[in-house]
Amino acid sequence: MPVVTAAPDLRTTFAGLELSCPVFVASGTFGYGEAFSRHYDLNELGGIIVKSLTREPREGNAPPRIVETASGMLNSIGLQNVGVDAFIKEKLPFLRQLRIPIIANIAGTTMEDYEEVGRRLADSAGVAAVELNISCPNVKRGGMEFGVDPGLAEEVTRRVKKVLRQPLIVKLSPNVTDIGAIAEAAERGGANAVSAINTVLGMALDARKRRPVLTTGFGGLSGPAIKPVALRCVWQVARRVKIPVLGLGGIVTGEDAAEFLLAGASAVAVGTANFLEPTAALKVKTELAAFMAETGFASIRDLVGAARV
Ligand code: DHB
Repeated sequence: MPVVTAAPDLRTTFAGLELSCPVFVASGTFGYGEAFSRHYDLNELGGIIVKSLTREPREGNAPPRIVETASGMLNSIGLQNVGVDAFIKEKLPFLRQLRIPIIANIAGTTMEDYEEVGRRLADSAGVAAVELNISCPNVKRGGMEFGVDPGLAEEVTRRVKKVLRQPLIVKLSPNVTDIGAIAEAAERGGANAVSAINTVLGMALDARKRRPVLTTGFGGLSGPAIKPVALRCVWQVARRVKIPVLGLGGIVTGEDAAEFLLAGASAVAVGTANFLEPTAALKVKTELAAFMAETGFASIRDLVGAARV
């Protein structure tokens, strides 16, 4: 007789948020959610992380600002977004009726920008947590400069945390020598969690035109090409901080997600895969459950950090 086991329990908690499953959609890859709700019930997700919000609306960089390379997508969007006030007024009403946590991602060029956007989100009903983008590779000032310096990373974290009521997640850049040191700085600043990783700095060049493809020269590389970099970063970060880690970078399958959890992430996010298949995150969730059933894991917690050298 086959042994009948219960379906794996996908419920978990992350940075104080109760999740029905550990699969988020990553900032910048899901807009403000509404377009994807035609494809599936968004309540199936662990949560939604929306595109970075800035104090004022931004049109972003001039095109071309996205290019497909032989191994991954390279983008230099330049933080195009409707601005924090329009987000609260026009986008949040749809999102807040969902039963899942909505995480607002914030970006800025100065400490004051970050603080002000945080302040406006602090009292917004339906914003369950805030993710700090200190790792955008595509703006002249701010963005990545905060994410590569432990002192600045700690200070911006501390200042935003002070104005918020919600948990704060700091998104880490892989474009550093010691990502663990930046994670520690975020933890010292009062972050409730970190996400690892943002895009990897890259370049595409048109040999015939003899110039870079993106108008900004460089951009952020994403997709399966960066998964090994991301897994290494999650592994390193999870060993340096006590706060939970959200793992992302090239996740396409349920087994990819399992690898990040085993490396030490408490939850994961699907990013670039959403552009190829709008239901990608749903597939990751279903496949993760199948992987757990097949390998005998009853709960998410059992997977987290269970890999050994
Ligand atoms: C952009 C921001 C990011 O954080 C990133 O990883 C890639 C692109 C942007 O809007 O340019």
